Amino acid sequence: MPAIAIIGAQWGDEGKGKATDLLGSKVDYVVKFNGGNNAGHTVVIGEEKYALHLLPSGILTPGCTPVIGNGVVVDLAVLFHEIDGLEARGVDTSTLKVSANAHVIADYNRSLDKVTERFLGSRRIGTTGRGIGPTYADKMNRIGIRVQDLFDENILRQKVEGALELKNQILTKVYNRRAVTVDATVEELLAFADRLAPMVCDTSLLLGEALDRGDVVLLEAGQATLLDVDHGTYPFVTSSSATAGGACTGSGIPPTRLSQVIAIVKAYTTRVGEGPFPTELFDDAGEHLRSVGAEYGTTTGRPRRCGWYDAVIARYAARINGVTDFVLTKLDVLSGLEQIPVCVAYDVDGVRHDEMPANQSDFHHAKPIFEYLPGWTEDISGARTFEDLPANARAYVERVEELSGARMSVIGVGPSRAATIVRHALI
Ligand code: GDP
Ligand code: IMO
Ligand code: MG
Repeated sequence: MPAIAIIGAQWGDEGKGKATDLLGSKVDYVVKFNGGNNAGHTVVIGEEKYALHLLPSGILTPGCTPVIGNGVVVDLAVLFHEIDGLEARGVDTSTLKVSANAHVIADYNRSLDKVTERFLGSRRIGTTGRGIGPTYADKMNRIGIRVQDLFDENILRQKVEGALELKNQILTKVYNRRAVTVDATVEELLAFADRLAPMVCDTSLLLGEALDRGDVVLLEAGQATLLDVDHGTYPFVTSSSATAGGACTGSGIPPTRLSQVIAIVKAYTTRVGEGPFPTELFDDAGEHLRSVGAEYGTTTGRPRRCGWYDAVIARYAARINGVTDFVLTKLDVLSGLEQIPVCVAYDVDGVRHDEMPANQSDFHHAKPIFEYLPGWTEDISGARTFEDLPANARAYVERVEELSGARMSVIGVGPSRAATIVRHALI
């Protein structure tokens, strides 16, 4: 059986958590392969609402084994806080597996994330302040601390000493902060080692064997295509590989075993933090999307920037990820609009671009070229088949499908599991 990736097509918060949860009962393993607790996924099951940050959303499905892959950066205090919160609500987290190769976020990296943002001033990224960027920088710089290092205190101490040699110079001399001691960091990390130990394994081997047995493995992205460090709107991106390629490197599953890539795309667009966003709205229409769509960050509570659907970035996501199916979420939020603009191309200084401009400056100057589709007034949150939707809502889905480069297989009409229309079964 295959491995299937779920990725975000826009700038995050497309509803990946709900989509993963929907498929949970059909899969044996759900793997988080990138990012850390910068992610925020809201999953609504019946009357219960869960906010997940570090744990894969599949953890809410009994019988599905959740895995934190090697591509993730783990804040251990957050991990156990989240586990305890779920256990208190009756969710069994005992099968969780954590890669020995995942990197851990130390306190000095949370501090550096925050002071770097302050230092950047108007050039800031608007990060979540969780230490994500500095921890990935350490990984690439080969001074990172990995989960497996927690089980050999001598090695851990040596690695922390090595990392702090440079970090303390930066903290004290550039940012005028107090130096961090090796002891404090070792103590901070070792505090969790005993509890973590039984969860730790070679998750690439675990998943490879699962696939050999015929199990279904779902690879769940944090963040999204336009926040990917290689393919996103650099430098206004996160520091990990959030695209389908990252699903392989972040889990140790080879590309030849991926049979399907499901992209989650919102029926409009949102973004949190800084960076270009061609269809962004600054008027009442943006405020309308924000309030009807409850567009406030799950992680930081920041209001999300809102704009119309951008088919150029959807096509880009389809290409970069090899998308086989889209899940179009939050169609219900568009109810009640007289007409709905959809961006079909960009005007960059008088030149039409049907594809993402190769040059970042051009993307900053991109003005959306809109096509205007007729809206609908009906409340569609009770629709359960495509035919239940008003004709104009069906026409909207069909037009964005045509423009976006892959079929719209599932449509979300509300936050709950039930508020879903399946046009083509995903698994
Ligand atoms: P993720 O980061 O991609 O998992 O997305 P978030 O959970 O951060 O944001 C998506 C929000 O939209 C959550 O609050 C979901 O409960 C909600 N949601 C998901 N699908 C739908 C939908 O089809 N309609 C509505 N109204 N809300 C949805
Ligand atoms: P989910 O998984 C939306 C954004 C931050 C910032 C940039 C870099 O819920 O879709 P970072 O802390 O990662 O270094 O911040 O990326 N960002 C997200 N935006 N959804 C997310 O996750 C995000 N994770 C990071 O706002 O602009
Ligand atoms: Mg989110």
